[in-house]
Amino acid sequence: MTKFLGSKRIFTAVFISGTGTNLKNLIKFSLTKKSPITVKAVISNKNEAKGLNYAKKYKIKIRIFKFDNNDDREILNFLKKEKIKLICLAGFMKILSKKFIQKFEGKILNIHPSLLPKYKGLNTHKRVINRNEKFSGCTVHLVNSKLDSGKIILQKKVKVFKRDTSSKLAKRILKQEHIIYPKAILKLISNL
Ligand code: GAR
Repeated sequence: MTKFLGSKRIFTAVFISGTGTNLKNLIKFSLTKKSPITVKAVISNKNEAKGLNYAKKYKIKIRIFKFDNNDDREILNFLKKEKIKLICLAGFMKILSKKFIQKFEGKILNIHPSLLPKYKGLNTHKRVINRNEKFSGCTVHLVNSKLDSGKIILQKKVKVFKRDTSSKLAKRILKQEHIIYPKAILKLISNL
């Protein structure tokens, strides 16, 4: 696990529900020399998730699960079979069960589009703008059993402009997400 350079990269699964720009970015990162991870599988709760096209393009294994707790064992079996040691949630919109989180304690990362602990949950950009915040941003954190509350690994502040719309702010934050997610992985792994 700790020996990640050279050929011994950490087998990683990325969980997505939607567009998958973070997935694309993580795949690209995983193909660089300095990457400690290999994206071995992409898992989604939605078989129409656009991001699955990136997995197809890079010939990465795809699995679709409902994540309704009944398929926990099936998912865990798959991850075990694939020797997955790290999970990166990237726009994954389902809540993982406590049992699942326990099995992968300290090994599930999530990216959230706000400066946690502020603005947990959904519709972050709209809430940030409505509250006239001067800054928002993004956070990579470990997942625990409370929503968006695990240990923070890395954050990046982004300025909110007076005339910002949710989609303009989301775009600027997404750019920063793509920068900090790989950095957070490197940071997490160097501390193992
Ligand atoms: C990203 O902004 C990510 O931070 C957010 O969904 C977007 C997914 O974009 N995640 C959450 O809101 C999780 N609660 P992507 O599909 O293009 O990576």
